[in-house]
Amino acid sequence: MEVVIVPDAKSGGELIAEAMAQLLRRKPEALLGVATGSTPLPIYQALTAKVRSGAVDTSRARIAQLDEYVGLPAEHPESYRSVLRREVLEPLGIGMDAFMGPDGTAEDVQAACEAYDAALAGAGGVDLQLLGIGTDGHIGFNEPCSSLASRTRIKTLTEQTRVDNARFFDGDISQVPHHVITQGIGTILEARHLVLLATGLGKADAVAATVEGPVAAVCPASALQLHPHATVVVDEGAASKLKLADYFRHTYVNKPEWQGI
Ligand code: F6R
Repeated sequence: MEVVIVPDAKSGGELIAEAMAQLLRRKPEALLGVATGSTPLPIYQALTAKVRSGAVDTSRARIAQLDEYVGLPAEHPESYRSVLRREVLEPLGIGMDAFMGPDGTAEDVQAACEAYDAALAGAGGVDLQLLGIGTDGHIGFNEPCSSLASRTRIKTLTEQTRVDNARFFDGDISQVPHHVITQGIGTILEARHLVLLATGLGKADAVAATVEGPVAAVCPASALQLHPHATVVVDEGAASKLKLADYFRHTYVNKPEWQGI
């Protein structure tokens, strides 16, 4: 696992946007797996700036969704499909025809989950998967004790996650759905490169468990330790509980093991 400590969220966003730009220059039709929530916004802003300045061309890029609320109509402003259209697709000039995501309103949720896993594989797999992390260590919406081999499926959100996400629903927790469809941990691990961004003190415990704890389902993000190319980008707040922080700073500066994010 590569751990990169950056001064702040903006620099993390720029570093990751540059990695995405490099991937798109190499592979213009790359399938980019995207996350929602607050953390990745600096990535999307930095990538949009690159598109606008002509530094990268996203006209052939494809976008895959990580997770979705169950039961929110697609046009609801907080459905992740709507959020991604607003924050990623429109700014990057990518059409909905290049977008894939699970159907959170399907009558047969299990079939929709299986169909999404099959669609991801049929599209050649995700080239670079962006991830945030929950305060409880979730990736996607694989809450603690999710199987590390799980496939895309329905999950129940923890109370903590619903409290954390109430800010997107005018602070009203009763509006936060209880269920989600999420790519499974096994599904996520199939992406060619995993890039997790974590910012702020509130993520420090989850980051320490992810990077320095054992691989354990109680901290789903610790599954990144099993991936051959996983990069964890953290600001000083999120890095504040890492015992090996100085070592990570040293290895990044000297780049002897740097695989290029
Ligand atoms: C959302 C997702 C979640 C978030 C996590 C952190 O698509 O996959 O795992 O990344 O809940 O959310 P923020 O970034 O809002 O703190």
